[in-house]
Amino acid sequence: QDDIFKNVISHAKEYGYIFQSSEIYDGLSAVYDYGQNGAELKKNIRDYWWKAMVQMHENIVGIDAAIFMHPTTWKASGHTEAFNDPLIDNKDSKKRYRADVLVEDYAEKLNIKAQKEIEKAQKRFGEAFNEEEFVTTNPRVVGYLSKKKEILERMARSLEAEDLTDVKALIEELGIADPETGSKNWTEVRQFNLMFGTKLGAEAAHAMDLYLRPETAQGIFVNFANVQKTGRMKIPFGIAQTGKAFRNEIVARQFIFRMREFEQMEMQFFVRPGDEMKWYDYWKENRLKWHMSLGLGKENYRFHDHEKLAHYANAAADIEFNFPFGFKELEGIHSRTDFDLKAHEEHSGKKLQFFDAELNKNYVPYVVETSIGLDRMFLAVFATALQEETLEDGSTRTVLRLPAVLAPTKAAVLPLVKKDGLPDVAREIIDDLKWDFNVAYDEKDAVGRRYRRQDALGTPFCITVDHQTLEDKTVTIRHRDTMAQDRVAITELRNIIDDEVSV
Ligand code: GAP
Repeated sequence: QDDIFKNVISHAKEYGYIFQSSEIYDGLSAVYDYGQNGAELKKNIRDYWWKAMVQMHENIVGIDAAIFMHPTTWKASGHTEAFNDPLIDNKDSKKRYRADVLVEDYAEKLNIKAQKEIEKAQKRFGEAFNEEEFVTTNPRVVGYLSKKKEILERMARSLEAEDLTDVKALIEELGIADPETGSKNWTEVRQFNLMFGTKLGAEAAHAMDLYLRPETAQGIFVNFANVQKTGRMKIPFGIAQTGKAFRNEIVARQFIFRMREFEQMEMQFFVRPGDEMKWYDYWKENRLKWHMSLGLGKENYRFHDHEKLAHYANAAADIEFNFPFGFKELEGIHSRTDFDLKAHEEHSGKKLQFFDAELNKNYVPYVVETSIGLDRMFLAVFATALQEETLEDGSTRTVLRLPAVLAPTKAAVLPLVKKDGLPDVAREIIDDLKWDFNVAYDEKDAVGRRYRRQDALGTPFCITVDHQTLEDKTVTIRHRDTMAQDRVAITELRNIIDDEVSV
């Protein structure tokens, strides 16, 4: 499994899908950039979602709210209180530390001890020193490094399970002391804020403390009345949005699965109080259907109904996906009651209600939300699509079986040779098709190698222009998944591609 995942990460880099952010400066932890192909795939997933949610539902409209929001938003939403990281106080010094950082520092000390042993041995053995062998056989070094690994793994497990008592137990077992005073008198581990803070305004004295939004949902809640009135929306109706969200995650691992800057695709569906469970069931089913329509395999999805609910919810379920590291949350469907709108009413003093003509009364609507991470969806699609195949002749090929509708490039046009006017015909075909599809040109290397490159990039079709094309205006079209090749007229290309790549 580890190997499969490593392969996913290196393929994503090699083929221009995902790069570590600021890589030339050794990267930034849990922040990633999408390359030339990644940006296209991400956009296609976003469009596929938008089409299903907004275009296909007469009663759902889309907005694009700002990342910066008034700071009171986060008081109302409960994020300033409840959206947290682990924190520990020293009872004697009254100093406050991040519990996970204390443990990480301790682990780093073990690492330094191991490095010192290595340096000593290096000096002692000189030329004859074999570091790899030393690190795996010297009892002290092995001890330091395995202890370090064990500690970090235990902390990560406890944090993931939100078991803060165990984080404290770990700090006590290791005898970690206050770095400044040496006191070992600790409080329980509690939580501190996960939101990124920033300032609005140039003058420090008058600057306003802001947060980067940790979810897009609040931009929808605060615009409820604006959209309802100007769009003359009648309940039930939905507001959808895609956009960046930011969380200073403590356990930021697993590539783009958990990032500090990520993108969400959320839809808040406003319903009559009492109708929420009906709509909750509806959206659970509807969202699963959306996933199924991409053909990543029914067996790769499952629901996880929550027993422990967030402060705002009366029902919640995750759609989990079988990632290379096992089944994990991909999307959440939450029945959020009237918690958010009521809280914003209270904090803003503005009415956020709907006049229901049928019932002849005003009420604060209930909300059922669907919330999916775009980057997580990207990882689900990309990791499942990446396959190694053994062919009939015993050779292997790497193929990225992306759903055609999501593929960054729909077709590559390849002149068989770089002469005899074949490149010109290839360019003419591209000039015609590019109005409807992303198409690429490639003339480098033998055509077989070009096919393999397009397979690895996930391009559903290769169109080859050869000498026969000059005579009868036909080309070969090769299908990525079956590798089957057909001879077709240039005029048929648009329909053939369109049949496969359109929704
Ligand atoms: N408005 C509800 C909400 O934000 P959430 O379960 O915290 O709920 C929803 O997040 C989705 O956003 C998750 O299912 C996941 O796909 C994605 N997500 C959350 N945190 C993420 C992170 N740090 N990196 C990538 N995706 C994340």
